[in-house]
Amino acid sequence: MTNAKQAKVCVVGSCSMDLVVTSPRRPGAGETVMGDSFKTVPGGKGANQAVAAARLGAEVVMIGRVGDDHLGETILNNFKENHVSVTHVKPVTDMESGTAHITLAEGDNSIIVVPAANNEVTSDYVEQAAEIIRSSDIVLIQQEIPAETVAVVSRICVEAGVPLLLNPAPARKIDAEVLQHAAYITPNEHEASVIFEGISLSEALRNHPNRLLVTEGSNGVRYYNGEEECVVPTFKVDAVDTTGAGDTFNAALAVALAEGQSLADSIRFANRAASLSVTKFGAQGGMPTRAEVEAALS
Ligand code: RIB
Repeated sequence: MTNAKQAKVCVVGSCSMDLVVTSPRRPGAGETVMGDSFKTVPGGKGANQAVAAARLGAEVVMIGRVGDDHLGETILNNFKENHVSVTHVKPVTDMESGTAHITLAEGDNSIIVVPAANNEVTSDYVEQAAEIIRSSDIVLIQQEIPAETVAVVSRICVEAGVPLLLNPAPARKIDAEVLQHAAYITPNEHEASVIFEGISLSEALRNHPNRLLVTEGSNGVRYYNGEEECVVPTFKVDAVDTTGAGDTFNAALAVALAEGQSLADSIRFANRAASLSVTKFGAQGGMPTRAEVEAALS
């Protein structure tokens, strides 16, 4: 374990249950295919990032919502098992927990998210937890919660001088003010094309030196370092399930940055963590511990 101070990470985002079918191929419209297996595992981009950060040694507080159903109970128990604080994960009365309906087929996943209780991560709700946000070393946020909430959190962070890592997934348009408030923005190539529609990727990167980090899957992570565009390569592994790799990347990046590592070193650490995460089934199944990442890096 490194001697770095323990990072205080706050994650604002979704908590869901992943309903995962593995199948030899995806059905077309109107078609039925026979699948191989079905499993229910904890997921949701926010929850995944919180669990990943905790496994990497951070002190983590989750700000989110679950339903008052049995899935919500399982999600809360999973947080506790992974040492994530759930003081600010309040069940919503008479509402289902969020679910993600995932098909693993032909070497990739396709996902339909039903936000349900995640839509109740409202501006008012996060305002009540503003003190937690202000006292964090870094805040992580994604886009499976209302856009207005993301904007409010970005304002709280800027006013408090707390860096915000915006993982703009799934893709949607983002207000210029929110982009300005985020210390780091981590889209994949598709998300980047939606956010920066009308300009080239190179132009977008140059407009946001050292803060726009575009994840390009097995190719690595591209950013503009103030002098040139560079790519931090990823680590090659045999992937079993890529679900949650992006979440592991974002969490590891946040932990390393909060500990004071350089941007290039933080990306390398995050790439290593993400590469380990895909070697097991489930979004959280392969998320590595700190010791596992450090052993792999050395
Ligand atoms: O990023 C992976 C996550 O996205 C899955 O766990 C699923 O919940 C979807 O929201």
